[in-house]
Amino acid sequence: MNTAASNPFTGTHALRCVHCGVVQRDVGPLFRCSQCNELLEVIYPDWEAAVATAEQFKKVWCERRLSVAPEDVSGVWRYRELLPKLDPDHVVTLGEGNTPLLRLKRSAQALGLDRLLAKHLGMNPTGSFKDSGMSAAISMARAEGFSCVCCASTGNTSASVAAYAAHAGMKSVVLLPAGQVSTGKLAQALEYGAIVLQLQTDFDGCLKLLHEVVQRFPAYLLNSVNPYRLEGQKTVSFEVAEQMSWSVPDHVVLPGGNLANCSALGKGFLELYKLGLITRVPRISVIQAEGANPLVRTMRENGGRELVRVHAETRATAIRIGNPASWRKAVAVLKATAGTCEQVSEEEIAIAKSELGAEGIGCEPASATSLAGLKKLVRSGFVKPADTVVLVLTGHMLKDTDYILKKHGDHFAGPMEPDAGAVVRRLEQMHAGN
Ligand code: F0G
Repeated sequence: MNTAASNPFTGTHALRCVHCGVVQRDVGPLFRCSQCNELLEVIYPDWEAAVATAEQFKKVWCERRLSVAPEDVSGVWRYRELLPKLDPDHVVTLGEGNTPLLRLKRSAQALGLDRLLAKHLGMNPTGSFKDSGMSAAISMARAEGFSCVCCASTGNTSASVAAYAAHAGMKSVVLLPAGQVSTGKLAQALEYGAIVLQLQTDFDGCLKLLHEVVQRFPAYLLNSVNPYRLEGQKTVSFEVAEQMSWSVPDHVVLPGGNLANCSALGKGFLELYKLGLITRVPRISVIQAEGANPLVRTMRENGGRELVRVHAETRATAIRIGNPASWRKAVAVLKATAGTCEQVSEEEIAIAKSELGAEGIGCEPASATSLAGLKKLVRSGFVKPADTVVLVLTGHMLKDTDYILKKHGDHFAGPMEPDAGAVVRRLEQMHAGN
């Protein structure tokens, strides 16, 4: 791998409990603390060496954009100075990351904001933000010699696990809540060759069951309780900072489900700040659907001390999660970045999704919660007109076409005679209707 020659930072890492702070000796298949059973995070003991050479990173990361080596093309591994060190032979990449930061001019105008941008993570190889984290975590699985990987999923994780496993020549097992995953995502997992098991429970039930399975069956767990997933996902912060010439936005607003993505983005921005590569950290705010709002309730009811679990219901199926695994990490990020959380109704999600579509920027329903939530944050004054805002769009529009077709059902013209006169008359009627 092409690394900065004079960089003394070795990328040596350790896993530390996010709750009691104990650095782990042996990590079991569930990636939980041996003392208190909470989640773990990746830390870098020789961080000081990274601080000393951090300014060089910007140049090296920029130069790699001209390289054609797969680990330089990857929007994850390009930033490998800030990732666990791996043998290049173990890196599994499908060219993830490198997603666009797009201007939302009309939405900005409607909201009275000077600058509103969308980081479109739906432009990843399998159409969602999961791919950055998957590249990192499956590479660790390969380094550890696993030949089978697994996850529970509301759909996107399963598509990503299946694709990366197939690319790495591994087997994959995915547990899905029966009848609660969009056809597009299910089709992806099947086509990439995963063993797909649909269980008669919800996502929370699938994840709980998988925890039992990995203790009895040698499959590497690729849900976001795996701290290496977050290391991959944190690179989105690096990419945003780089795309904005290292001047970060005032706010980053994103949807929350299992709450790993906000944790990862927070970790990424906070690391850049500690390295002196950015001068401040954006406020990170999480938006949930009203029917799947455990973080909102947790913050409002007890200030983030105890998780309030809910029975989740929303048509934004990607975030239909009531017992989020990464809630502690998310609360820490909201507090560290002075962000907030908000909830939005099904109707508000549908409207925001159409508004994004009308700007030529498609996304799946869960992603549109970010715009729906931003409107509320602007109304409450939390986001000010002069603030620069980045909305994170997490999944591609084609992930859930049933949602769109149902919405347009009534206005959809039925089949017509193939007759030019009839078509012109119809166009004239529609034109007049506008
Ligand atoms: N947006 C989309 C499109 C998602 O697929 C997910 C989560 C989220 C947002 C929420 O991200 O869980 O990190 O807070 N999807 C998972 C899955 C749970 O199984 O695909 P989070």
